[in-house]
Amino acid sequence: MTVTIVGSQLGDEGKGGIVDLYGDDIDVVARYQGGDNAGHTVVHEGETYKLSLVPSGAIRGKVGVLGNGCVVNPRTLFDELDTLQERGLDPDVRIAERAHIIFPFHRVLDGIEETVKSESDSEVGTTGRGIGPTYEDKVGRRGIRAGDLRNPDVLRERLEYVVPQKRAVVEDVYGVAVEDLDDPDAFDVDALYEEYREYGERFEAEDMTVNASVFLTEKMADGQNVMLEGAQGTTIDIDHGNYPYVTSSNPTAGGATTGTGLSPGVVGGGEIVGIVKAYLTRVGSGPLPTELGGVVGDTPGYEEQGEGENEELATQIREEGGEYGTVTGRPRRVAWLDMPMLRHAARVSGFTGLAINHIDVLAGLDEVKVGHAYTLDGEERHTLPATTEEWSRCEASYRSFDGWPEFDPATVASEGYEALPENARTYVEYIEDELDTPAYALGVGPGRSETIVRERPV
Ligand code: GDP
Ligand code: IMO
Ligand code: MG
Repeated sequence: MTVTIVGSQLGDEGKGGIVDLYGDDIDVVARYQGGDNAGHTVVHEGETYKLSLVPSGAIRGKVGVLGNGCVVNPRTLFDELDTLQERGLDPDVRIAERAHIIFPFHRVLDGIEETVKSESDSEVGTTGRGIGPTYEDKVGRRGIRAGDLRNPDVLRERLEYVVPQKRAVVEDVYGVAVEDLDDPDAFDVDALYEEYREYGERFEAEDMTVNASVFLTEKMADGQNVMLEGAQGTTIDIDHGNYPYVTSSNPTAGGATTGTGLSPGVVGGGEIVGIVKAYLTRVGSGPLPTELGGVVGDTPGYEEQGEGENEELATQIREEGGEYGTVTGRPRRVAWLDMPMLRHAARVSGFTGLAINHIDVLAGLDEVKVGHAYTLDGEERHTLPATTEEWSRCEASYRSFDGWPEFDPATVASEGYEALPENARTYVEYIEDELDTPAYALGVGPGRSETIVRERPV
């Protein structure tokens, strides 16, 4: 069977930890979208692993697959694999032949477009990893895929087609001289060909590329369990998020089928677990109706974005929860839980269960608030509006919950749900009722043993 892990908010809900938590019963973990924009943390026995590309199952020695819906930067991939090997792991990662490759020019273009947009304060606040430009080339039918790296003639032919176009965009559209860039080789066909041909050779030598659909289907036919690890989250989904402040792929459950080649029946026949942070964080631009406070500092775009009134509380939660971007180190904006956002996520992906993380981070507050509904143009709304302009005008109406005291995470996790302070249980049950979905797991700390497990999806 399959278990699909989906971020229900804006990313960083603790997906990596939940993949690791349930990993014991799983044989293969496949990513279905995104690339090294993701930063998934696994904490176990005092060791912290931060993974951008390698599926989180690697920590438990599970086979990892980067599905056809992913965009793969081989530089990051091999760096990450080498680092994990140095730490004593032996990750077995397969890459879909159909997955698109991120080239250095994609990163350069990501940076230039953000700079141009920032002149009108409209930058997305991307991770700068070249994600958007790579998906653009995929949809534009000029991308280069993992399978192409294994065939030098095809690789050269495709580079000769695409690189001059990219150079022209940089020079003629943006007026930037390629020779003045930090990495002028990013636009040099010969240099790219030599480097990427070698990655293709390593793919071949280590038997890394697969037809993901066939590979995963065969594993399932052998009775193996497959976990589909989403990156990012529903509100930054290219279709279902707050466009244009989104990533360029589908983190929602539909992406798990198109991004792996497992049919909708297979994915829908399994479990779909929505990962929820007990409050809300955001890195990058865009509205946030329940925002508590802006970010102190000089991150571009943030001064205008941080409109919350309760900066002190935001700072307290940010520090308590360690809310700094895993990939970029940027401080995360902090907000109260947003229920219209979660209702949208539950509908789009069809959650069969939830994992609610970071319950410990809110412990000790007198009051915990939730944006229960919005008011827009005098009307009450219970789900996200489809336009970002409307969303930015939504005012949250709040439900207030009594806070809960600090508790010892390890004790509560081992004793189970009833050991959680009563007010925290009231909060959890409100979320379950509103989404009509049971909470399978409750995170009370970052470690594997700091989670209350109520249900195992496999
Ligand atoms: P992901 O991108 O969804 O995998 O999440 P990240 O790894 O980017 O961010 C989640 C952060 O919160 C990581 O530092 C985790 O170790 C940590 N974390 C996960 N669950 C919990 C929890 O229940 N409590 C606390 N305090 N930290 C958690
Ligand atoms: P994980 O998997 C949180 C955000 C960026 C930016 C927008 C577009 O760790 O939850 P991109 O580089 O993808 O083109 O940036 O999406 N973003 C994330 N935010 N968690 C992530 O991943 C993210 N990946 C991208 O900050 O707002
Ligand atoms: Mg993350």
